[in-house]
Amino acid sequence: MKNILIIVPTYNEADNIQVLIASINGVFSKTTSYKADILFVDDNSPDGTVTVIESMIESYPNDIYIISGQKKGLGRAYRKGLSFAKNDLPKDYYAYVMMDADLSHDPKDISSLLKKLENGADCAVGSRYMRGSKTVDNYPKFRRYLSKAANRLASSLIDLDVDIKDLTSGFKALNSKSLAKMSLEDINASGYVFQVSMLFEMFQKKLVVQEVPITFAIRAHGKSKLRLFDIAEFVKQSYLLNPNSKHRRLLRFCTVGAIGAVVNLGVLVFLKQVIRIDVMPAYLIALEVSIISNFILNNWFTFKITYDDVSDRLKIIRTLLGKLLVFNFIALGGATIAWAVFNLFLNQFKINYLISDIAGIIFATGWNYGLSKRLVWRIVDNKIPEELELIYESQKS
Ligand code: GDD
Ligand code: MN
Repeated sequence: MKNILIIVPTYNEADNIQVLIASINGVFSKTTSYKADILFVDDNSPDGTVTVIESMIESYPNDIYIISGQKKGLGRAYRKGLSFAKNDLPKDYYAYVMMDADLSHDPKDISSLLKKLENGADCAVGSRYMRGSKTVDNYPKFRRYLSKAANRLASSLIDLDVDIKDLTSGFKALNSKSLAKMSLEDINASGYVFQVSMLFEMFQKKLVVQEVPITFAIRAHGKSKLRLFDIAEFVKQSYLLNPNSKHRRLLRFCTVGAIGAVVNLGVLVFLKQVIRIDVMPAYLIALEVSIISNFILNNWFTFKITYDDVSDRLKIIRTLLGKLLVFNFIALGGATIAWAVFNLFLNQFKINYLISDIAGIIFATGWNYGLSKRLVWRIVDNKIPEELELIYESQKS
């Protein structure tokens, strides 16, 4: 018989808790493979959730633990619960199950999550978005839409090559190895984004995460605790999780472009006012200096290229010069495009000169980024080819 621990965060779930405990009991009384303890993480629910739980401790055949504290959000509650399970409980558990208290998650599905673990997964995610998943018919369209959108957004922002459809699911099982390997202190999410951050941490630790279809129901009683803050935090934290995501790379590229413009102006003024050379050669020199500084910054900052083996300096320099040459041509093409777009907008479309200039810059940036990403830094489908002698920092760790 294996011991498992079911961790349930609760805030104002007094009306749901009795049914939940009874239904967990119903599921586990039928099996001799597992024995389930329950850990409730309650944030001083004013509706007396804890009193209801306490009244059920006697009748539940296994252990029920309750930890209480100040309300700091779902993510904090989960982190507290997981770290309590890891450090403060006398038993070693075979697996930990995370689920909601509002009966959205059906305790009957726990067995398929555990089965996934038995078959080798470190974490099983109860998924609403795969073959075999069901969502009850009366589930509000808006919530369904919101959840799908959140999943798409998170998936795009974390930009990892993983096949998990339901990144925000709150129904999961993990084995003890996963819990031991995760650095809970690093999962710094106070709200719902915790789910995504936790999976990200698991991906980083190379744990095997797999999905299992579940039946998702509308909450039985009470209302959702999702707040506007959670949505804002969700977007921000998902964006910040992976420093090497395509979005953050593009932002770094644009930042370098802006720095390049300042370098360009500075050099031009310096050459013309201090060294006093003619404006035309000064212009060309300033252009080249800013292209070279952009190249260096992009190599080091945007694409975070590091060198595996620094013993062969000559080879590195040769590679860099070759890349610089290609980058140069691309940048000159970009400048031409900026100029052409500016001209077209200003003279043909009769648009304000500043807006035309911005349009030119946007087109040129797109061209520069698209081409240099592929031709200079050889990123295809957002993946760095392995055979390159240049390696990506993130892939080392
Ligand atoms: N202790 C504690 N503190 N518990 C909380 C808090 C909190 O601040 N906020 C929510 N909970 C508990 C609720 O009592 C419930 O048991 C569970 O966490 C989920 O809260 P709901 O309010 O029912 O969340 P939801 O239905 O909007 O969201 C569900 O779906 C999301 C994805 O669409 C949850 O499963 C989320 O984890 C999931 O990301
Ligand atoms: Mn819910």
